[in-house]
Amino acid sequence: MGARAAAAAVTAMLVMMVHADVKPQRDFNLQRFAGKWYRVGIAYDSPRFAPFRDHVKISMGTVAALANGNANLTMWDATPIGCLKKLYQYEKTNISGQFTYFSTTHNMVKDITVVETNYTDYAVVLKHKVFNREYTQVALYGRTQKLRNDVVQKFKAFALSWGLSRESILTPPPAENCPPAASASASASSQ
Ligand SMILES: *[C@@H]1O[C@H](CO)[C@@H](O)[C@H](O)[C@H]1NC(C)=O
Ligand SMILES: *[C@@H]1O[C@H](CO)[C@@H](O)[C@H](O)[C@H]1NC(C)=O
Ligand SMILES: *[C@@H]1O[C@H](CO)[C@@H](O)[C@H](O)[C@H]1NC(C)=O
Repeated sequence: MGARAAAAAVTAMLVMMVHADVKPQRDFNLQRFAGKWYRVGIAYDSPRFAPFRDHVKISMGTVAALANGNANLTMWDATPIGCLKKLYQYEKTNISGQFTYFSTTHNMVKDITVVETNYTDYAVVLKHKVFNREYTQVALYGRTQKLRNDVVQKFKAFALSWGLSRESILTPPPAENCPPAASASASASSQ
């Protein structure tokens, strides 16, 4: 292992140790967390994702709170090949505010932690397994597409504290017609 690789490994290990027990939002309440969110910020350092950074748009999602404590997240992503709808099934853990889900992209179970939310405005959500820049994402969700600057700064600081690079922290522009107008109103009426 070269000196640089060794240094990087040590840094990754330190980040991992510091964050061994990432704490979810105190007294997390899934019912209040449910409903419509915009993903107004994303920090994702995967080298495979880097070429797409300039194309990322704000995604819209709805969180459905299931009776058993699990959650379904439906997301609409504006991609170069169109507006894609994806369902994420979050399974509750015995820690409130922490879920697991199976990532088909990375073929592994990941932890989802709602790190901080005030339900009415914003949420910072961490998706990871052990810290690995390939697999770790920090997202900033907003009830609206524009959030106060102090909230955006908080999200950026959190992502940096996880060892994500500055270039990987994005606050993308709004999407156009994604979800398509018809399905957006359909999902709003099913709330
Ligand atoms: C959650 O997703 C599962 C799998 O698609 C589906 O069977 C279930 O009806 C969904 N529940 C709600 C409340 O959306
Ligand atoms: C929560 O679940 C983990 C893993 O299944 C287990 O090791 C731990 O003891 C549980 N904690 C409580 C408080 O039940
Ligand atoms: C939620 O956060 C926003 C932005 O910081 C703030 O304006 C609002 O008052 C907060 N709401 C609650 C209920 O704390």
